[in-house]
Amino acid sequence: MLALPGMNILWNLVAEKLPDLVAKRDFLGAESNVHAVTGVNGQDLQKDAVIGVQNKEQCKEFGQNVAMTADALGRPLHDLRISLLDRCNFRCPYCMPETEFHADYEFLKRSQKLTHAEILQVVRVATELGVSKIRLTGGEPLLDKKIVDLVAGIAAIAAVEDLAMTTNGMLLAPVAQRLRDAGMHRVTISLDSIDPKIFKTMSGGRGDLGQVLAGIAAAEQAGFSSIKINVVVQRGVNDHAVLDVLRHFRGSGHIVRLIEFMDVGNRNGWRMDQVVPSQELLTAIQAQWPVTPVGRNYPGEVARRYQYADGQGEIGFISSVTKPFCGSCSRARLSADGVLYTCLFATQGTDLRQPIRNGASDDDLRDILSRIWLQRADRYSELRRPEVAEAHAQSKVEMYRIGG
Ligand SMILES: C[S@@+](CC[C@H](N)C(=O)[O-])C[C@H]1O[C@@H](n2cnc3c(N)ncnc32)[C@H](O)[C@@H]1O
Ligand code: SF4
Repeated sequence: MLALPGMNILWNLVAEKLPDLVAKRDFLGAESNVHAVTGVNGQDLQKDAVIGVQNKEQCKEFGQNVAMTADALGRPLHDLRISLLDRCNFRCPYCMPETEFHADYEFLKRSQKLTHAEILQVVRVATELGVSKIRLTGGEPLLDKKIVDLVAGIAAIAAVEDLAMTTNGMLLAPVAQRLRDAGMHRVTISLDSIDPKIFKTMSGGRGDLGQVLAGIAAAEQAGFSSIKINVVVQRGVNDHAVLDVLRHFRGSGHIVRLIEFMDVGNRNGWRMDQVVPSQELLTAIQAQWPVTPVGRNYPGEVARRYQYADGQGEIGFISSVTKPFCGSCSRARLSADGVLYTCLFATQGTDLRQPIRNGASDDDLRDILSRIWLQRADRYSELRRPEVAEAHAQSKVEMYRIGG
C-alpha cells in the first residue's frame, strides 16, 4: 500500500481512471485526511484500475495490512455476506411472514441463482479488494445441499481469514462436523426464545426447539467455540422471555446477542413501537446479573459487548435502530441471484450475475466491484428519519434475500 503526501497527483490518477468520481474530491475536501491510494493488490498506480482511497483514521484503525478499497465515506471493504438461497424452512413473522411467503410465492429458480463456481469467483475477487471475512447466510443456508463443498472451496482461498455462517439451526446437527472439517470457523444460530411456544410462534409455526438445541450441541461437539446465539427481540412477543434465554446460555461459553427488531424489507409490518431499545434490556439484565462493558473485538464490530461480572460469559447488543453503526460498516452483501448490495437497507444493488455469465474475467469483475465500493455512501440507519424511511419504504431489499 502506498502512503504518499502528493495527494493531488494521486487524486488526478484516480480521476483519470474513474472520471465519474471526480466530484468526490470536493466531497473529501482540500483539507481531507485522505493519504493513500492503493493499486490492485496494493501494488502500484500504473497498472489496471486504481481501487481505493482511505483516510488516516480508517487506516490506523484497520491496520496497515489491509488491502484497502475505501468507499466515499472512507470505510474499507472488509466483509462479504453471501445469501446462498432465498428459501427458508421457517416463516419468522419479522422476516418472511407466512401471509407473504405462502405456498404460491415464487422463489428463485435454480438457473437464477449463482452457482458455487460463480460465488467462488466473486469471493476470490473480493478478497483482492480487502475482504477477509465471509459469512454464508440466506434464507436458510443449510437448505443448500452442497454447502459443505462450497465451504471447502471458500476456505481454500488463502485471504479468507474468517468464514462463518448464520443459520436457524434446524438442519445443523447432522452437518456440523462436516462443516467444521471443511474449514468453517464460526457459526451463529438464531434462536429467539427458549420457551417452546414462543419459539414456535417466532419461527412461523415451523421450528422445533429441541432440534435447534441439538444443532447447537452438535456444533459444540464439532469444535465450534464462542457460538453466537442471535435473538431478535420484539415487544409483546418475546421481550418478557429474554432473560430466560440468557439464563439458559450463561456459563456455556456461547454469546447471546440481542438484536433490535429492524425495519428491513417491506413485508414484516415493522413498527417502531415493537422495537425494544437495547438500553431497556440492559437495565433489566443489570437488575438480575450485573454486567460490564467490554471493548470491540475488531473494528467495525456491530455488537456492543458486555461481560457478566460473575464471570459467566458475554452478551452482545445489536442496536441498529437506536444506535446505528453505519460509520464503521465494512460489509457488502451478495444475494442468491447475484446482486451486490452495499447496505442492509438498500433499495437497489448491482447485478453481477449477468457480467459473470457474459464471461467477465477476474480483472473485469474486480473493476466492477471496486467501482461499486468507491461510490458507496450508504448510511441509512444513521439517517433513519420519517422522510428517509418513507422514501425507502416500498423498495427496500428483503432480509431473507441478503441475510442478516
Ligand atoms: C435473515 S436470517 C438468515 C439466516 C438464517 N435463516 C437465520 O435465521 O439465522 C439472518 C439473521 O437476521 C435476523 N433477522 C431477520 N429479520 C430481522 C429483522 N426484521 N430485524 C432484526 N433481525 C432480523 C435473523 O434473526 C437472523 O439472526
Ligand atoms: S430469520 Fe432466518 S429462519 Fe427466520 S424466516 Fe428469516 S431467513 Fe428464515
